[in-house]
This record gives sequence, C-alpha cells and structure tokens, in this order.
Amino acid sequence: MGYDIWNRRYTGSKYKLSEWIIDLIENNCVGNSFCDIFAGTGIISYSMLDKVNSLFINDFLFSNEIIYKAFFENAPYNMTKLENIKEQCNKENVKNLSDNYCSKWYGNRFFSYNDAKLIGYIRDNIETLKNEFNEKEICILIASLLYSADKVANTVGHYDAYIKGKNIEDKFIFDLINPYDTREKDIVITRYDANEYARDLKCDIVYIDPPYNSRQYSRFYHVLENIASWEKPMLYGEALKPAPQNMSEYCRSSAPIAFKKLIDALNCKYIVVSYNNTYKSKSSSSKNKITLEEIRSILENKGTVKVFDKSHRYFNAGKSDFTDHKEYIFIVKVGD
Ligand SMILES: C[S@@+](CC[C@H](N)C(=O)[O-])C[C@H]1O[C@@H](n2cnc3c(N)ncnc32)[C@H](O)[C@@H]1O
Repeated sequence: MGYDIWNRRYTGSKYKLSEWIIDLIENNCVGNSFCDIFAGTGIISYSMLDKVNSLFINDFLFSNEIIYKAFFENAPYNMTKLENIKEQCNKENVKNLSDNYCSKWYGNRFFSYNDAKLIGYIRDNIETLKNEFNEKEICILIASLLYSADKVANTVGHYDAYIKGKNIEDKFIFDLINPYDTREKDIVITRYDANEYARDLKCDIVYIDPPYNSRQYSRFYHVLENIASWEKPMLYGEALKPAPQNMSEYCRSSAPIAFKKLIDALNCKYIVVSYNNTYKSKSSSSKNKITLEEIRSILENKGTVKVFDKSHRYFNAGKSDFTDHKEYIFIVKVGD
C-alpha cells in the first residue's frame, strides 16, 4: 500500500491531464533535461521521470519541497527502519498522549481532537529522530505525515476553511509514501521563487504551470506548510492561518508583468505553458489573472508558438459556476 505522489487533493493538480500534457511534450519538444518550475504536487515531474536524464523540480512551498525530496531525491534510505517508526506511531494510545501544538490549534477544527493530537505527536517525534535518520528518511517521514493528515482533514480539499458544525470522526492512520527509484537520474530539488530561479536555470524544456487566479497556495495549504516547517507560530482568524509568506505575484493583477519577466529570463530550447479559460466565473477569486492573448503575445517574442486545448472540469472544491472549462497548452520552440 502506501501513498503515491498523486494521492493528495491539490487545486490545479494536472494529474487527470498528465497523459495529454506528456504526449504533447513528447510530440513537440526534444531534450534531455526538464524543469517543472511551479511543480505543485510534482505529478508532471513524476510523469517525465522515465523520459529525461535531468529533472529540475521547483516550488516555493516548504511542504512541496519536502514531498519532492521524499519521493525523488537520489539518496539512500532504509524502508525497514521507517516501517518500524510507522508501526510504533500507529500503536500509540492517543489517550496517553499530552496536548500539543496541533491538538491545541487544529483539534475539533481541521481534524478531530484525537487525530490532531496524533499528528502533533508524530511531528514532534520526527524532530527527535534527526540524529538517527538521514535527511531523505526525515523527508519521507514528514511527507508521509502530510499525506496521512491530508487524507483525514475536515475540509473540502484545501485549508481556506474547515467544515463547521460536524462531529469529526477519528480516522487518522500513519501510512508511508512509496519513494521512486531515481538512481539513474540527476534530480535537482529547489524552493525558489520561479522568477528568481529562471535567471540561473539552464535546461532544455521548461514547464510553466503558475497559479491562475487570486487564490494564494501558501494560504490554501497553510496547515500542511505549518506541519512541514514546524516552527509552531501563532495562528490567526477563523481559518487559523500564520502570518503571510510566499505570496505569489501570479495571484495579483501584476501577474502579466511577472509572466513576461519569467519568459524573458528563461534560457532553454522549449517552453511549455499550462493555463485555462476561467474568465467568466461568478467568484472574483477564481477569475484568471492573465489573458490567453497576453500569454500568446509574450510567448511569441521568444519563438514559434503552438496552442492546444482540451475540455476539462477541474477541481474547484465543488463550487462550479462555469461549465465550459478548457485547459490550454502553449508550446514555444525558442528562437525559431
Ligand atoms: C497550478 S499549481 C501547479 C500544479 C502542478 N503542475 C501539479 O500538477 O500539481 C501552481 C504552483 O505554483 C506554486 N507557486 C506559486 N507562485 C510561485 C512562485 N512565484 N515561485 C514558485 N512557485 C510558485 C504554488 O505553490 C503551486 O504549487
């Protein structure tokens, strides 16, 4: 059993579109190195793993970086030792555990009280293992905790709010992720702002899948960010969020400017861009920030552009008020 990289709920995940996207990349691009510069769940990196020698995986969230290291980092790990930790954690009697950071803030809100207590206990426990386990193993344990917690969270799939007025059941089970075999590959995992990273990156194919609207990922996934970084900050408001960090320019009205700077800075042979056509949504927070015309004209400065589209109903937490969704892929052959 165990978790695969796509076993999580993530706004904008390309899991269901990955076959289409990878086919387009294979049929229109040539190269041996691939960069997933807004990698999100990492599903597109995973899908490119057997197609290139070098993979650059980047996203500015802490939780995502840990998840990529856990699944992809080319480093040794001892699964038997990790299974033993998993079994010990699952044998704990939650009634004997003391209250902790997670149970205090998230108990009876984002998780049942007992589940929150177990999650906080396991996260504290992982900190104490840092002398006995290497970095890859610690990342596997934290990523496993993130996937296990996300599976039982009392939400509609993100952490902008928890579901109120519900008797939350105890459901948490600590299960491990299944890391991938990357021994033959060069894997580079980073946590940079994409625009800064683009200036130093040298790579054949760059895949760009930025946020499309004003919903900030660091605010949507703050609970996972908090469990990953484990600095135990004060939390604020109804949704118990920490002070803002990693706020993306792509979620603001300045998104077209940020996109142009990113494209201008890239030094690569092919650029592949994902975007969709959510411009007419009733909810202003789900309206796209860059027009398809702006994307095309910015890309045309860089080379020949091909555009592909596909009808798709994407995950938006069940509040769909817009039925004609289309996903777009722009492919640029740079310098052509
Ligand atoms: C649409 S999602 C990517 C989804 C991904 N392709 C997948 O299939 O799961 C956009 C991602 O960009 C990240 N992000 C937003 N602004 C960023 C920035 N300026 N630099 C790096 N990452 C950023 C977010 O954390 C989020 O994971």
